[in-house]
Amino acid sequence: LALVMVLAATSAFADGLLKIGYVQVGHESDWRMANTQNYYDVFTEDAGFELELIDCDNDHALQLAKVREFVQKDFDYIVIDPIQTAGWDDVLKEVQEAGIPCIIADRSVDASSDLYTTAVGTNMTAEGETAGKWLEEYLAGKAAKILVIEGSTGSSAAIGRSEGFNNIAANHPEWEILASQDGDFTQNGGQAVMEDFIKRFPEFDVVVCHNDNEAYGAMDAMDAAGIKYGVDGKIIISFDATKEGLTRTLAGQILCNVECNPIQAVIVMNVIKDIQDGKEIPKFTLVPDEGFCAPGIESSLVTVMTDEVLAARKY
Ligand code: AHR
Repeated sequence: LALVMVLAATSAFADGLLKIGYVQVGHESDWRMANTQNYYDVFTEDAGFELELIDCDNDHALQLAKVREFVQKDFDYIVIDPIQTAGWDDVLKEVQEAGIPCIIADRSVDASSDLYTTAVGTNMTAEGETAGKWLEEYLAGKAAKILVIEGSTGSSAAIGRSEGFNNIAANHPEWEILASQDGDFTQNGGQAVMEDFIKRFPEFDVVVCHNDNEAYGAMDAMDAAGIKYGVDGKIIISFDATKEGLTRTLAGQILCNVECNPIQAVIVMNVIKDIQDGKEIPKFTLVPDEGFCAPGIESSLVTVMTDEVLAARKY
């Protein structure tokens, strides 16, 4: 466990509030909206913060420009949820040279960890592995033709989930991945990819969707084509486990839904408080998450959905 010591920033601003600049990926999914709301709920003036959250609409160049703007304005902390893993070295160096603590949140970057202060996020590869292991247990040796609707190309969420699922698929010669295509983490994207898949692959058993919104789009496409899904139809696996996603898991439409917990702001806030207090902080803080499956399925790996589990979800 690498621990880092950072000199506490004292707010240069007259109101004494710590200025937090957050470059958010965009508004592509229910998960993203929940994550944004969670930041607004946590980083309040009452808690001592002024949050400027920028919706970067999946535009990497805009995300870099906004980080540079925060540096110009001498913000106290910069939080980056990177749209893509690549292309961060220069801007991270600039943030570091400006002496502003930088937190990488949710997704990860393909850059030396010396270039940022700390990172907070889920383990996307483990999420993919959970999905694969669930399928392994569910199929119990049966052969399957699999279609994958990936998240945005180049994002650590898509890279990690593919890698994790493929790690498990590699042990199963009886599984055939027919195609894997980018659905951009959106409902429209998921629908368009699924419509294309339906034309190209008349026979398939499983659809793995890298997030809930893509799964809704895939369902729309299957509904329009008269294709059944659920316990007695095609197997849909999803990620995120948002409130709506788990509603559809409880209804038996999505058979397995692996959580990616959007409630991350409080963890980021605690890291900032520790830096303020001059405490040592870990280089990475894991946001815990778990998997869920539809009622009636026995699983040693994930939680079987119930009304109570759903009622306990905020987002
Ligand atoms: O980075 C988290 C992923 O990005 C979520 O799975 C997805 O819904 C979002 O858009």
